[in-house]
Amino acid sequence: MEIVGFMTEKDFIPSKSIELIEKGKVAYKSPSNIALVKYWGKKEGQIPANPSISFTLSACATTTKISFKKLDSPTQQYSFDFFFEGNPKPSFRPKIETFFKRIEAYIPYLKGYHFIMETSNSFPHSSGIASSASGMSALALCLMEIERMHIPEMDPDFFVKKASFLARLGSGSACRSIEGPLVVWGGQEEIPDSTDLYGIRYNFEVHPVFKNFHDTILLVDKGQKQVSSTVGHDLVKGHPFSEQRFKQAHRNLSLLKPILRTGNLKEFIKVVESEALTLHAIMMTGDPYFVLMKPNTLEIIHRIWAFREASGSHVCFTLDAGANVHVLYPENEKEQVHQFIVNELVAYCENQQYICDRIGLGAIRLKV
Ligand code: PMV
Repeated sequence: MEIVGFMTEKDFIPSKSIELIEKGKVAYKSPSNIALVKYWGKKEGQIPANPSISFTLSACATTTKISFKKLDSPTQQYSFDFFFEGNPKPSFRPKIETFFKRIEAYIPYLKGYHFIMETSNSFPHSSGIASSASGMSALALCLMEIERMHIPEMDPDFFVKKASFLARLGSGSACRSIEGPLVVWGGQEEIPDSTDLYGIRYNFEVHPVFKNFHDTILLVDKGQKQVSSTVGHDLVKGHPFSEQRFKQAHRNLSLLKPILRTGNLKEFIKVVESEALTLHAIMMTGDPYFVLMKPNTLEIIHRIWAFREASGSHVCFTLDAGANVHVLYPENEKEQVHQFIVNELVAYCENQQYICDRIGLGAIRLKV
């Protein structure tokens, strides 16, 4: 089957029943991603309120291994054990159950197997880094690999699209973690084949300056997320500025197209920093309202601005829905910026901790 254009939900529902194989093992390592244009606000069924684009990361990743064994008779409940970093993690079970419920129509074998899932993160658990993007994409890829064991002739393009589709149903931004280096999720007129249902690789010309971009993640607050994504997305519903915000995201994605082609870093910085601050502004002006930055987040932002002004560097920042700061910079400035981070910024990190990451190419299958 050759896939042309974008697919609909129905295309992901298996058309014929499959004979379950007895047992097997699969494993994937899937990275996190950092949005340049942010996804914040969604509609029913994990449909984004606006399109987003992200750099796929490389160092921050989740590794997931699934062993599966056919049940004597299919169950009504999902049958699985879940281990996080070698230990059972009961608090994760409801998340997996919700995910399974959402994807059951698309995965015919879910109630036919007992699954043993073992997962671990490359980054410290209490780093304040959300693992939902890497975790859900790794899980979705493992499930697709099991599907492929049943349907070996599966089209590779279909595999990737459906993996992203499933990951989206786990955690929206996870659908941008399957491939790299740049992924667009959400329909946008100027990006053919872009869709709300899954992420696609950004297939336009990209200037070499973006090919080796760095992202140093400054761990300002390593605690639990103060506001969950669910609460955050909900807050956008009925927010007085939401319609303008959605239009702005479309506009910013349009602006990024020539920027990514020409390598205009000055304009890149404007879009990326404005997106980060807008995400936080939406949270500050919601009902209820939240401030997700910490004093050290702001201190770091001001220091980045002052350094840029003084040195002519092209370093900039972006933020997720939390206090940590992602410091973005091109390869040819890495020594200079790294020195600046060590000299001036690590003092504002909790326990002076930070993670050096860079743009990556997406998930990889592991041998088991
Ligand atoms: O994937 P979720 O539902 O956890 O949403 C995360 C959204 C942000 O990380 C704040 C922005 C983005 O586009 O990744």
